[in-house]
Amino acid sequence: MSAPLLEIDRLAVSFRAERGRVHVVDRVQLALAAGETLALVGESGCGKSITALAIMRLVPRPGLIEAESRICFAGRDLLSLPVAEMRNVRGGKIGMIFQEPMTSLNPVTRVGAQVEEAIRLHAKVPAGEARRRTVELFQTVGIPDSGIRVDAYPHQLSGGLKQRVMIAMAMAMQPRLLICDEPTTALDATIRAQILELIRNMATTTGAAVLLITHDFGVVNAVADRVAVMYAGQIVEEGAREELLSRPRHPYTQGLLRSIPRPEARGNRLEEIKGVVPRPGQWPQACRFHPRCPHAFDRCRSETPARTVVSPTQAAWCHLVDEEARA
Ligand SMILES: Nc1ncnc2c1ncn2[C@@H]1O[C@H](COP(=O)(O)OP(=O)(O)O)[C@@H](O)[C@H]1O
Ligand SMILES: [Mg+2]
Repeated sequence: MSAPLLEIDRLAVSFRAERGRVHVVDRVQLALAAGETLALVGESGCGKSITALAIMRLVPRPGLIEAESRICFAGRDLLSLPVAEMRNVRGGKIGMIFQEPMTSLNPVTRVGAQVEEAIRLHAKVPAGEARRRTVELFQTVGIPDSGIRVDAYPHQLSGGLKQRVMIAMAMAMQPRLLICDEPTTALDATIRAQILELIRNMATTTGAAVLLITHDFGVVNAVADRVAVMYAGQIVEEGAREELLSRPRHPYTQGLLRSIPRPEARGNRLEEIKGVVPRPGQWPQACRFHPRCPHAFDRCRSETPARTVVSPTQAAWCHLVDEEARA
């Protein structure tokens, strides 16, 4: 197997708090191959967005990426790149689409001009040509009246259209890695499906890898090759999509899958995971999921689980899974 495009190892991020530093991401390990789509799932507050921001080196102050962290992208150690080179990586090789596109679009510049700028950063083309390509890209991503919409300001566009502009911009940059953080959460179901389809098409045509953060298993099912499940700052299970969805091993993954609304179970209450995600700084000892876990036993309260390989494509950090694997 060739080296992965993105390799994250021991990624740790902390924030300053009243009593010392508090970790929000703790020794995260992830790998992503070229052309692959990895879904990163987990309840709100587990550290998914901070993980994504760390890859871009955009963790907001006073957040800090701890020294032992390693993020290797296309053979380069991102965490030791000079600031100017990192800016180049962000502007080109790694693209990002957020839940709220307003945070990434410049509110005082017409959307077309922003995409033209991205095009001209990557190809030395005259302004007229960049403009023509922008209108074309807007058509490709399904923006109606694209010749007129290029002159709109972000606030004049709906959420769905702004998200399409972000995808057009990503397509203009032709990134090798596209990070999408809840890209469809703010959109209604029909638009959501169209945006996912666009992201998937873009990835297939350009060969880009996609790191897709979502809490929607419908989204996972539609686009992911592999899935990583995050809980309280750590990865607790990872695997190929089909295997992980049909045979989740970690009780947390099982709980997440059970809380998906199912049409056939209409009227029945969702079987949700009891309790809430512990806040950073209040993570339980040993297995962090044990207070919420229906299967917890002594070892879960006293010993941190290690990675247990359950098949060539699936692994879990869980004592129960470990004991089953040994039996
Ligand atoms: N600027 C910040 N200062 C302190 N804590 C933060 C900051 N940003 C995020 N956090 C905390 O980090 C944890 C992980 O956040 P986040 O990565 O956004 O979670 P997710 O994307 O999985 O919902 C949360 O508990 C959040 O409160
Ligand atoms: Mg988030």
